Amino acid sequence: MLYPLPAVLVGCRDEEGRDNLMTAAWAGTVCSDPVMVSVSIRKERYSHDIIERTGEFTLSLTTKKLAFATDFCGVKSGRDTDKFSLMKLTPLESARISAPGVSESPVVLECRVKQILRLGSHDMFVAEVVNVSVDEALLDENGKLTLERADLIAYSHGEYFTLGDKIGKFGYSVRKKRGRAAEAKGSAAAKGVRRRSGSGKPVKKYKN
Ligand SMILES: Cc1cc2nc3c(=O)[nH]c(=O)nc-3n(C[C@H](O)[C@H](O)[C@H](O)COP(=O)(O)O)c2cc1C
Repeated sequence: MLYPLPAVLVGCRDEEGRDNLMTAAWAGTVCSDPVMVSVSIRKERYSHDIIERTGEFTLSLTTKKLAFATDFCGVKSGRDTDKFSLMKLTPLESARISAPGVSESPVVLECRVKQILRLGSHDMFVAEVVNVSVDEALLDENGKLTLERADLIAYSHGEYFTLGDKIGKFGYSVRKKRGRAAEAKGSAAAKGVRRRSGSGKPVKKYKN
């Protein structure tokens, strides 16, 4: 009952070069230095063993346009389905790992597994984010990431939702009016992300 959650597409590639995607809602940010995320995956999933063997996966954020594919990738298995091709998704070659992301996604995190916690029904893969790429269409003229334009979706109690109205921002409850001009600062370049064009082609590499 801990909702809403992101519904991300977890990308992996096996040793023969076959790509797969699975949907995960049990994913989260767990550390900022080093930047780390987690994703909990049932042992039965086809993706589980591939990620365990290769130690790599990507997390692609999902949008309204990707909602159908997100659901499909969460109900069909890569054992007998080529989800990239059936959903007409384009694999995005990663800069630092072999596992592909999804070109149609606005933000892709490249992750290297550091620990696997055997929790019970699910194994939690704790991984370092070794690269981030963003669709450059989401960068404004100052290089600031405008994620609010991405139409991200959330998963809550078995259903998908677009995000609602903006009702505040970090720290607004204590911010003095005078300090607000400084909010515009903070560009994607400063945060060490890789830009890529809408086609998925990287256009510039920042910090890797
Ligand atoms: C919205 C949604 C969220 C899901 N979250 C998870 C999850 O966090 N962990 C998990 O193991 N399976 C999750 N699943 C189920 C897998 O995505 C599903 O079993 C998928 O078919 C596995 O694909 P694979 O066999 O190709 O790896 C989710 C499914 C949906 C639709």
